[in-house]
Amino acid sequence: MSFTRRKLLAGLAGLSVLGAVGGGARYWLGRPANAVSHDYELIAAPVDVELIAGHKTPAWGYGGQAPGLELRARQGDWLRVRFINHLPEPTTIHWHGIRLPLNMDGVPYVSQLPVLPGESFDYMFQLHDAGSFWYHPHTTSAEQLGRGLVGPLIVDEREPSGFRHERTLSLKSWHVDKEGAFTAFSVPREAARGGTPGVLSTVNGEHAPTLELPAGEVVRLRILNLDNTLTYRLNLPDGNARLYALDGNPITPRPLGEEYWLGPGMRVDLALKVPPPGEALSLRNGPLRLATLASVGADESDGTWPAPLPANPIAEPDLQQAETLRFNFEWAGVLSSEAGQGEGFTFWQINGQAWDINDKTCAERPIATLKKNGHYIFELRNLSQYQHPIHLHGMTFKVISSNRKKIEPWFTDTYLLGKNETARIALVADNPGVWMFHCHVIDHMETGLMAAIEVV
Ligand code: C2O
Ligand code: CU
Ligand code: CU
Repeated sequence: MSFTRRKLLAGLAGLSVLGAVGGGARYWLGRPANAVSHDYELIAAPVDVELIAGHKTPAWGYGGQAPGLELRARQGDWLRVRFINHLPEPTTIHWHGIRLPLNMDGVPYVSQLPVLPGESFDYMFQLHDAGSFWYHPHTTSAEQLGRGLVGPLIVDEREPSGFRHERTLSLKSWHVDKEGAFTAFSVPREAARGGTPGVLSTVNGEHAPTLELPAGEVVRLRILNLDNTLTYRLNLPDGNARLYALDGNPITPRPLGEEYWLGPGMRVDLALKVPPPGEALSLRNGPLRLATLASVGADESDGTWPAPLPANPIAEPDLQQAETLRFNFEWAGVLSSEAGQGEGFTFWQINGQAWDINDKTCAERPIATLKKNGHYIFELRNLSQYQHPIHLHGMTFKVISSNRKKIEPWFTDTYLLGKNETARIALVADNPGVWMFHCHVIDHMETGLMAAIEVV
């Protein structure tokens, strides 16, 4: 599936006769009569940020900030974003975790052409699921995400949830030196291993901030890992917190426990009982403090845990009738290219096929073809000693088993596949299209660990 710019423009011209083009973000699509509308004009542009006191970092941001502006909408509504590219290079927006039509998925040469500098593109789709999602480009990803083009997309439940307080925490670690200048976003010898890590951890663009939370209340913390590389080992010593949703999808609430491993692209919704006034907690990655959560104000709450969040309307895979497909994630064994041409290293592959980010035709050779509305089990085998957060576009899947740990099945868009782990996930192939299936360690994805899965 590929198309030319001419075809695309012809398609737009054809559609535009259905309604007035121009003016605000209202385009030719009607809006549901009973839904509140959310129109955004979102600009991607260079923006200097101060990550290190007294120094400027030449970031790229959405809506004038990096990480980008938080977009919000309600479940069932349409999200309509007029995206404007003021960057010096082509880009797209992919809506991570959102089940939408292929032409809104933001993958260059698969779902759309890249949005060139000075151009705009209208993204419009209905939000079927509530939860914590995010958005980012799908072009020159190591650099574009590395420079800050990552942002939260929060979809509120159709009916108000039991949470009265919430905060979004966007985690990102920056590839900068001591003067705030960018260092390499992807280094071949790191890409061939666990990925190239940043060195300066931030929450909402600030290193080790103090966040004030209302004393005694239960607060929903939406923690989003928007990092290129890092898996955060989240912990909250002495904190009274429960997991309510993983990667946007509700679970039966359970205590946070010792540590929760949040791979790149993954999210967690925590309910935190804020301690008494004046006390503070440390949100940490392993032993490292990410943020201080300070309790402020008078405690006026009864501190009861909210009810579980309502499930999203995701089709339940029938494991009895499901067909099993196997996917091996492995080292491509071509270290020789490390000494090679500069661009286009290949270190990783899925079922013996490496994705080449410089070859626009890769998606024409899908690694698997699923029948529309068919039920499938994917067996994911990690034959390497590095972990891979495996992500699928377009459809949400259910994690059903692992040879490494006990699984309470849950729905997600990303599964953190541990080293040498074999896990099984299941889905109903209910969204026709060509969907990217890749590791969300960005430099793994850019050195081979991506494939296309077709649903016809
Ligand atoms: Cu966050 Cu291709 O995805
Ligand atoms: Cu995605
Ligand atoms: Cu990986």
